Amino acid sequence: MILAANFKTNHTRASTKAYINGICEFVANESYDLPIMIFPPATALDTVALPGNVTAGVQNAYPVASGSFTGEIGTQQLDEFGIKTVLIGHSERRHILGESQEFIAKKYQYFRDEGYTIVYCIGEPLEIREQGDDAVKAYLEAQMVGIDAEYDHLVLAYEPVWAIGTGRTATPELIASTHAMVKAMSDRPLLYGGSVKPANTKEILSVEGCDGVLVGTASWELESFTSMLKTAKELQA
Ligand code: PGA
Repeated sequence: MILAANFKTNHTRASTKAYINGICEFVANESYDLPIMIFPPATALDTVALPGNVTAGVQNAYPVASGSFTGEIGTQQLDEFGIKTVLIGHSERRHILGESQEFIAKKYQYFRDEGYTIVYCIGEPLEIREQGDDAVKAYLEAQMVGIDAEYDHLVLAYEPVWAIGTGRTATPELIASTHAMVKAMSDRPLLYGGSVKPANTKEILSVEGCDGVLVGTASWELESFTSMLKTAKELQA
């Protein structure tokens, strides 16, 4: 059961450091041994020194070692911080930053060839969900085009766009049926994301075919995220 925290454009170096220290303390005090992934902003990657079950990743990177790509970071910069985990295909990069499936697949292939752990996100917007299961399936399949679904270091995340940052969570039934759809495309671990918070973590982690959660808003406060970790530990016991 993997719990992942996506800070997005939140937290500073100082607050990330305090948060990471809090996670380290929590892991030691609670003997927490399930995998945790944290995606701080790129400016705070150097504050990260972590126990073995906790991994820091980058929210985005350019598929290159180095070069002339103003504003981007490549593997040369990530190597300096020992980062070998990257988030690819997040809906905010697809829909706000305009990344195409073609570019996303190129990125995926590059970081796969470099041996990175890839958290690969897929998810449909509301208008597709409203058209029913076949439309959702076709939409999610299109987001798997060019993606090596058998890659050993792949973790998938199903995140319906209409549930991200909206407070609107998918029902356990919808998560179960959509996860079954995605599981038919890849047998890699599959997280759910979209308004996961302490109050619904237990219900969501209990869904058949849900191997963890990718949390945005509710991960930004340390106590909120650690309470979700506690729930995961209780379920695992
Ligand atoms: P949210 O974000 O938890 O704020 O809905 C999830 C995500 O974007 O990964």
